Amino acid sequence: MHHQRKGFCPPKNIGIGVDDVQDVKGETTELTVEKVSSDGSGIARSAGGVVFVSGALPGEVVEAEITQRKRDFALARVVRLKKAHPQRVAPACPVFGVCGGCQLQHASRELQLEIKAGIVRDALTRIGGIDLCKAGFPDIACIPGPQQWGYRNKASFPIRKIRGKPVAGFYQALSHRLVQLESCPVNAEPLNRLFAIVQRELPGLSLDVYDEREHRGALRHLILRSGLHTGETLVSLVVNGRLNAAKMKSLMGLCRSLKNVTTLTLNHNSRPGNVILGDRTEVLRGNGTITERLDEWALRCDTTSFFQVNTEQAAALYRHVRELAQESGTILELYSGVGSLSCYLSGTFSGSVKSVTAVEEWSGAVELMKENLKNNGVTNVLPLCGRAEEVMMNLREGYDAVVLDPPRGGCDRVVAEKILELRPARVLYVSCNPATLARDVKILSSQGDYGLKSVRAFDMFPQTVHVETVVLLERVR
Ligand SMILES: C[S@@+](CC[C@H](N)C(=O)[O-])C[C@H]1O[C@@H](n2cnc3c(N)ncnc32)[C@H](O)[C@@H]1O
Repeated sequence: MHHQRKGFCPPKNIGIGVDDVQDVKGETTELTVEKVSSDGSGIARSAGGVVFVSGALPGEVVEAEITQRKRDFALARVVRLKKAHPQRVAPACPVFGVCGGCQLQHASRELQLEIKAGIVRDALTRIGGIDLCKAGFPDIACIPGPQQWGYRNKASFPIRKIRGKPVAGFYQALSHRLVQLESCPVNAEPLNRLFAIVQRELPGLSLDVYDEREHRGALRHLILRSGLHTGETLVSLVVNGRLNAAKMKSLMGLCRSLKNVTTLTLNHNSRPGNVILGDRTEVLRGNGTITERLDEWALRCDTTSFFQVNTEQAAALYRHVRELAQESGTILELYSGVGSLSCYLSGTFSGSVKSVTAVEEWSGAVELMKENLKNNGVTNVLPLCGRAEEVMMNLREGYDAVVLDPPRGGCDRVVAEKILELRPARVLYVSCNPATLARDVKILSSQGDYGLKSVRAFDMFPQTVHVETVVLLERVR
C-alpha cells in the first residue's frame, strides 16, 4: 500500500526494521535500553551517564555510536542491533526515521501502547511527584483506537523550493529540512488525494516560495482538513504578504483542479517565526468551514480553529470525559475550542448537567462554538471569549467540576491556583503533553485538597510518541 518514492534512498541507520541497521564507522559502545523517552528515543545508562539512543526500543541491546556528548547526557545512534525487542516490526513508511512526523512505526501496536502508558506513568511519578502504586494506579491503561493508519483528518505541510520548484512535505526531525513524500500513511485517504493534486499544481502557480531566513516569498504552508464522516474537505494555503491580482489569478488553476473541495482559503501569515497560521483567513470558496461528525454531534471547524485530528479517538476520549463528569450539575470548561467537548459535557442527550460555562481565547473558535451549540440544539452552554487566566478572575465558587483541555504548554500557574480557590468537587484535566500535565497536577494536589481518582491514556496519534491523557482529581477535604 505504501510505495517507496522513486529515486528515494532511505539514509543509513534510520530505517529501523531488524535487518535495516547498517554498520557505521566510529567509536561504539554496547548499551541496554531501559525505556523510551517522551521524544521517542531509547534511554540507556552508560558509565558516562544517560544516553538517548534514537530508534532503540525497551529491552534492546545495541551497539551504539555516540553522536553528541552534553554535560548531563549523550545522544547516540544504533550501529548494530544485538538483541531486538520481540515486538519490533518493519516500519511501513519509506521515510520513517528521516521524517519528523512518526517516531514509533518500528514498534507493534501493543508495544506502542505500553511505551505511551510508560511515558505518562513516568511523567506523573517524576514530575508530578505522585506515588502511583500508593494512589491505587499500579498500571495505567492506554486505550487503542480502531485505526492504526490513515486516521489523521488534518495535515500541515511546509512548502520549500527544491531544485527551483515549490514542494510540500514534512520537516525532518529537529530541523527545517524538507522530507519529500508522495503520501503519508497516517493521513486519511482524502488528505493524500488532495496532497497529490496540490503537489502537482504547485509548480504552475506564479507564487514564489517563502524563504524563512530572508522572510521573503509568498508560499509558506499547505493545510488540509477532512470531515471523515461527512466527506467535506478544506484546503488552505498559508501565504506571506499580500498577493497582487496576477498572483491571485494564478490560483484559479489550482481552484479548478480542486473543484470537489468544499472550502478553499488563503491564510495570511506575515510574521517571521515557526507559528504556522496567521490571524486573517480569506475564503476563496465555500463558507470557510467543514463539518465533521462525532457520535450524535455535527461539529464545524475552519482553517485556524483547533479540532482533534483523530476523529474516532476524539469521540472515545470525549465519551470518557463525559462519563467522569456526569454527576456534575455545573461545569466550568476551560480551553473549549469550537465546543466539541462542550457538546458532550452539556448532557443534551444524556446526564444531569445543568450548565457548562465554556472559555476559549480565539474569537474565531468562539463564533464556531456558538454555531455548533445552536446547530446541535445545545442550550445550556455559555461561551465566554477570553484568556482562561483572565476570565477566571471574575468567577466565584459554585462549579461542581472544572474541565480543562489546554494546549501543549499546559495551563498557566494562575489558572491552577484559581481552580483551587473555586474548590470544585472534581477537576478533569485533558492533556496532550504528559510533562505539563504532571507539572499542573502537582500544583493542583499540592495543598492536599485533591486526590487522584482516575488516569487513562488514549492513543490519539498511533505511530507517533504522542499521547493524550485524561486525569480526574477529586476533592478529598
Ligand atoms: C487542546 S485545544 C482544546 C479544544 C477543545 N477542548 C477540543 O477538544 O476541541 C486548546 C484550546 O485552548 C485555546 N487556548 C489556548 N490558550 C488559551 C488561553 N490562555 N485561554 C483560553 N483558551 C486558550 C486554543 O485556542 C484551543 O482552542
